Amino acid sequence: MIELVPVGLVHAELLAGIHSICFAEPWSARSMAEVMALAGAEGLIAVDGGSLAPSLTPPGPAGLVLWRRIFDEAEILTIAVLPPWRRAGLGARLLAAAMAAAAEAGGASMFLEAAADNVAALALYEGMGFSRVGLRKGYYGGIDGVTMRCQLSPIAIDS
Ligand SMILES: CC(C)(COP(=O)(O)OP(=O)(O)OC[C@H]1O[C@@H](n2cnc3c(N)ncnc32)[C@H](O)[C@@H]1OP(=O)(O)O)[C@@H](O)C(=O)NCCC(=O)NCCS
Repeated sequence: MIELVPVGLVHAELLAGIHSICFAEPWSARSMAEVMALAGAEGLIAVDGGSLAPSLTPPGPAGLVLWRRIFDEAEILTIAVLPPWRRAGLGARLLAAAMAAAAEAGGASMFLEAAADNVAALALYEGMGFSRVGLRKGYYGGIDGVTMRCQLSPIAIDS
């Protein structure tokens, strides 16, 4: 069973390890810690079985999502699923959890950005209700960056 566990600074190295497998330009543990220390930053690691040790050893991490919320605006900072766990709904689950947490904390909309040639990410985001709202020419080493936005559903509060 895959659980989504909140991240803390103790996980910076682990998150950097996941990131390095999933991205051509990985963030170092130090960058990861700096991102997590940003105002309003939060994150989740997907853990497949067992408890989460702060190292990249199985049973263990399968993916991550980091987001940030300031007032009513949230943004995905990074999201990734390790290759063996891809195409099984985990990316969608991580994104949905980030959207729900941001909405619960008062976020009204969420932004994110993907390289225009990142077919998997763009399909994931569009499937989750994100629409294209901007283009940053050549932002990813010559590849355009696609900015996307999604309205977050208000969380129903029992009266
Ligand atoms: C993008 C990423 C997070 C998707 O994770 P995932 O767990 O495989 O995604 P899911 O299984 O939840 O897929 C949900 C939907 O996204 C789309 N999708 C995911 N991977 C896809 C692919 N390789 N090609 C086309 N569509 C894809 C599909 O619509 C999929 O639904 P379906 O499987 O029912 O067809 C993963 O591919 C990844 O980590 N990539 C490297 C890091 C990265 O690019 N992060 C995003 C940066 S902007």
